[in-house]
Amino acid sequence: MSAVCRSVRAVTPRIVKTVDEMLGLSARYSLERGITGFVPTMGSLHEGHLSLVRAAGELCDRVVVSIFVNPGQFAPGEDLDAYPRDFDRDLELLTELGVNYVFAPSPEQMYQWGYQTWIEVEGLSQLLCGKSRPTHFRGVCTVVAKLLNIVAPSLMFMGEKDFQQIVVLRRLIEDLNFRTRIIRCPIVREEDGLAMSSRNQRLDPEERARALCLRQALQMAQTAFENGMANPARLRNIMSEHVRNCGGRVDYFEFVDPASLQGVEHLEPGTRALGAVFVGKIRLIDNLEIQ
Ligand code: PAF
Repeated sequence: MSAVCRSVRAVTPRIVKTVDEMLGLSARYSLERGITGFVPTMGSLHEGHLSLVRAAGELCDRVVVSIFVNPGQFAPGEDLDAYPRDFDRDLELLTELGVNYVFAPSPEQMYQWGYQTWIEVEGLSQLLCGKSRPTHFRGVCTVVAKLLNIVAPSLMFMGEKDFQQIVVLRRLIEDLNFRTRIIRCPIVREEDGLAMSSRNQRLDPEERARALCLRQALQMAQTAFENGMANPARLRNIMSEHVRNCGGRVDYFEFVDPASLQGVEHLEPGTRALGAVFVGKIRLIDNLEIQ
C-alpha cells in the first residue's frame, strides 16, 4: 500500500451523529481514490490519541475519528458513568489537526432497540485484562466491528498501551475478513513516565504520584532481566511487592509471547511484560517489550 503524505490543515471536521449519515459518507468516499484512516476513541482526548491522529494524517488522505464511550465494554459497577467526557475540547483538538470527520453517535444509534448481537474472540479475550474484566473484550470487539463496517477504513490506528486490545482486534479482523489493517503506534507517556490515559485525570494528586509504581515495576523487570533474572514468578513477586509498598493493588503482572499472549516460562528479548494495578479506585494498565 502506498503511503500518501497529507499536509495538516485546520478545517472544522464534519460532525456525524447518526449511523446512516456515516454509512452514506463512507459509501461515497470508498468510491473515491485514497486511503481512509480511522482512529476509534472514547473521547477525552490526550496526547496519546493525538499521536494516532497525526500518524493517520501522515499516511492517509482522509481521517475519521470516532468518539463513543461504549457502554458495551463496561461491566455493571465499572466506571462508565464516571468516564471523563469533554466533547467541545475534543473537537477543538481535532480541528487543529485537520481531521475530516468526527463520528460521535449516541448509545441509541449504536445499539438500537432490540440489539442482540455480540462478537467474542474466544481465548485471547479471557487472558490478562479479560480475567478481571470477563465481558470487556466482547464489548470492544462488537463496537469495533460495527465501527469498521460503518466507517470502512483502510487503516485503523491504535496505541500500544492497550496491547491486548490490539492482539484481540487483529484476530477479529483476520477471522472475520475485515479489509482494515491495524497500524500499531507506540505508547505516549507523561514526562515522568506514566502512560497517558483518559483515566489519569481521575487520579487525585496523591494517587497520581503513586500511579508511577506500575511503570516502575515494569522497568524493574527489565533491569532484573538485564541482570540475569528470567523467571516470571520471581519477577512477579518483586514487582508486586513494589506496587504494594507504593500503596497500589496488583490486578496482574504477566510475561507473554506478544502474538499469542500465552505466558512464557522464561523471559527473552521480545517477551511482553504487561501489568494492571489499582491506585485508589482507578485501574491503570501499562506494558513494555523486554529487551
Ligand atoms: O481503546 C479504546 O478507547 C476503546 O476500547 C475503543 C477501541 C475506542 C473501543 O471502544
